[in-house]
Amino acid sequence: MVKMAVIGFGNIGGGLVELVESNREIIKKDLGTELEIKYIVDIRDFTGHPLEHKIVKDFNIVLNDPEVSVVAEMIGGSHPAFDFSIAALKAGKHVVSSNKEVVANFGEVLLAAAAENNVAYLFEASVGGAIPIIRPMRESLSSDNILSVNGILNGTTNYILTQMLVNNTSFEDALKQAQQLGYAEANPSADVDGIDACRKICILAALAYGTVYPSDLVLTEGIRGVSKRDASDAARLGASIKLIGHCEKTEDGKVLLCVCPRMVPASVPLYSVSDVFNGIMVSGEAVGDLMFYGRGAGRIPTAGAVLADIVEVVKHMSSAQLPPAKWVRGDESTLADVKAAKCAYYCRIEGEKIPDGCVMVSYEDGQTSFSTDVIDGYALDTLLDGYAVTSKIRFFA
Ligand code: HSE
Repeated sequence: MVKMAVIGFGNIGGGLVELVESNREIIKKDLGTELEIKYIVDIRDFTGHPLEHKIVKDFNIVLNDPEVSVVAEMIGGSHPAFDFSIAALKAGKHVVSSNKEVVANFGEVLLAAAAENNVAYLFEASVGGAIPIIRPMRESLSSDNILSVNGILNGTTNYILTQMLVNNTSFEDALKQAQQLGYAEANPSADVDGIDACRKICILAALAYGTVYPSDLVLTEGIRGVSKRDASDAARLGASIKLIGHCEKTEDGKVLLCVCPRMVPASVPLYSVSDVFNGIMVSGEAVGDLMFYGRGAGRIPTAGAVLADIVEVVKHMSSAQLPPAKWVRGDESTLADVKAAKCAYYCRIEGEKIPDGCVMVSYEDGQTSFSTDVIDGYALDTLLDGYAVTSKIRFFA
């Protein structure tokens, strides 16, 4: 029997506990042994809960129990999640996590600690919810030259944008619905301001290029500025608006990283990724274009990805350590200038006269929208000089 501890009895932690129980027989058959949750660590009070006998407030109980070999960290936030994770790894316990903030902020430290202590640190659920994306990037694609990754990485914003585009729902109402459905982070700013998507593209870039960049160095634009007029113009253009996390290796060997809303034409597979679903396009030199698709958020789908990591860890326990990812922390010197990257832009201005060479999309309420040629951000500034700009959205590139 393998004994584990669940750290954080919230949405995903609760989902994992449910899943381990409901899939007990499947897990046993798959592993050849039983998986038992010995402890659930949470500082909140669960008096009267059917699992009260397993719930402890002090993480040291887990740390000091040699029977516990796997710790599933699903607390959220950097601390104490990082502190518990590193302590568990140093105590020789495998750690699996759904916590993208910790992976993005401390991934290289945790992976190094895992390697030093001959245990695994896995984080499949940190990106793309239920979608297996970390494992393919870590294993199947590790020998390919990854050219780019483009992803709809946040289910909440994709849900909101879909409601705005398809049902003409206001941003506020769509956000409320997403929160009621349990998709949104406790603080919706992490979703709607692109912070969550930024952490996730930083993790994917680290898997692609071995360097994990601090989120605050990454151009991050959320969806608060996307309006109903932008949405109706997107429909006129045969496009949809998606919050896209993008990374690519530039010709000079730097990494281009950004998160921003983009007009995605129907010819791009991400166009039809709607609601809470995530879609991730990975382009590799050898493999060409790959598309990963699935539920990007939600209690049981995300818990399913955590369970997959637990199963992988248990299967490898008696054999060699899982293939270790080795990351280094990046800085500005190897990040490409996002403004120098080229794409077409959708813009809207006050008045009727649009810049020469641009193609008009619509004229309504005294504002004209248009699309530009493929240009860089500096040329765009010159093009828009003197105009009262009310909207500016990049096309997918
Ligand atoms: N709030 C996140 C999302 C949860 O909406 O994608 C999954 O990471």
